[in-house]
Amino acid sequence: MGAQVRGATRHMAGARARLRESLSAGTYAHSLSVSHEAARWATAFGADPDLARWAGLLHDCAKGLAAEQYLRLAGEAGMEIFAVERASPSVLHQRLGAYWAQERFGVREPTVLAAIRCHTTGARDMDGLARCLFVADWVSPDRTHRGVEVLRTALAQGPAEGFVAVLRAKRDVVCARGLPDHPWARAALDRWISA
Ligand SMILES: [Fe+2]
Ligand SMILES: [Fe+2]
Repeated sequence: MGAQVRGATRHMAGARARLRESLSAGTYAHSLSVSHEAARWATAFGADPDLARWAGLLHDCAKGLAAEQYLRLAGEAGMEIFAVERASPSVLHQRLGAYWAQERFGVREPTVLAAIRCHTTGARDMDGLARCLFVADWVSPDRTHRGVEVLRTALAQGPAEGFVAVLRAKRDVVCARGLPDHPWARAALDRWISA
């Protein structure tokens, strides 16, 4: 285990260097912040802190592309593209990010890939790691959006409270912007928020 962790740490330094080259300074700083935040909360969510650190670091590895690049690359990767993703292609960064985490960063751990795959929208089936990343991405210390303190307070009450609060907050943002539902977000709301 010790050797594994040491190896992973060296590998992580390499991943950080590659990310720093490919992401904007802001997204790179956000990725470090989410990595730290996810690791901090992992145990509370029943997740492995090392896997959470990886998921947080790489979750936005496909962020910052132009709309037509998202559509082209997702098509080349054989992904079915939902109507809302055609209207708002940047949402594809979650699925393309999972694909790149595997293809470009060599991640083989399925729970890390699954967490990255739905970190923006949520999904019907989310294990503790996926829920942890979903929350950490929205309340990490670099986040300054309106209402974030309320979400941090909910998370301090417990992981379930934090997760539901973030799901609801994201639903409200989508509503306020007049955007259509993403089918995975709708499934997450149906599954995780009763009544
Ligand atoms: Fe993201
Ligand atoms: Fe993010």
